[in-house]
Amino acid sequence: MNAPALSGEGVAPAAGAGELESGQMATKGSILEVADLGAAYGPFDALFDVTFAIGRGQAVALVGANGAGKSTVARVVTGLVPATGGRVIFDGEDITNRSAHDIANRGIAHLTEGRSVFATLTVEENLVLPFRRALGRKAVPRALGEAYERFPRLGERRGQSAGTLSGGEQRMLALARVLVLRQPLVVVDELSFGLAPVVVEEVYAALTQVLDAGTSLLIIEQHVERALELAHQVVVLTKGRVAYDGSVAAVRGRLGDLVLGRGNEMPESAGPAPDSPG
Ligand SMILES: Nc1ncnc2c1ncn2[C@@H]1O[C@H](COP(=O)(O)OP(=O)(O)OP(=O)(O)O)[C@@H](O)[C@H]1O
Ligand SMILES: [Mg+2]
Repeated sequence: MNAPALSGEGVAPAAGAGELESGQMATKGSILEVADLGAAYGPFDALFDVTFAIGRGQAVALVGANGAGKSTVARVVTGLVPATGGRVIFDGEDITNRSAHDIANRGIAHLTEGRSVFATLTVEENLVLPFRRALGRKAVPRALGEAYERFPRLGERRGQSAGTLSGGEQRMLALARVLVLRQPLVVVDELSFGLAPVVVEEVYAALTQVLDAGTSLLIIEQHVERALELAHQVVVLTKGRVAYDGSVAAVRGRLGDLVLGRGNEMPESAGPAPDSPG
């Protein structure tokens, strides 16, 4: 299935979700908890006892060197790769090893470089279909209005097929959907990959809007510093294990060491693993 994660129901924003202290581990108030998570590709173990939580309305940056297991975490959370151990708790419910379809319907959107919009549908169709399904036919005009108000460029291009949008516009379209539907959690994996710096800024402005509207974020990003500007908490993965979980402030200055286990360089120039589909 190549469909993006769409919410199956109108989801209220995380209203009144109190701001947690930066880096505070949320437990009861978590929108997502992964506990002792393991995952494997055939005989190759990719994740070992990965544990962290995302508070409601919070953004967590998941960082690490190429091959550390970031995308694998995203795939296990969204049901694309099975967990071999541990649990994924979403909004208080155990969703471990549920189908990707079921998890998407619960309101977890998974946005990656390549699989976030329906390329052959127009911009408007990409919005109308999920809006109608989630909110009902009557609510569609208002929902479209909100999407175009937040992202005017989508309004200008409403009749254009989504596959012909620029990379940045495609991310915008996917985020407009998430924002209007107030989906509870979005997992973004390298959403700025291949985009010019100015477009990366636009994508991050859109992500900020999504966060401000109450959606929680799990951000996997090669522009680590950019992700840290938005994140409340950072989780560092090293060879499939959590090497750090805490506030962004506390990790500044030694993130390079944590990520690479050497030197101080940031993985800014890192591309995706050749075997990584997203
Ligand atoms: N489909 C697959 N089959 C076999 N091994 C895989 C597969 N996908 C990933 N792996 C391996 O699992 C490990 C973790 O990969 P993952 O894609 O999660 O890393 P990542 O942190 O997202 O890296 P990058 O920053 O390069 O995207 C890597 O060693 C990778 O080679
Ligand atoms: Mg990856």
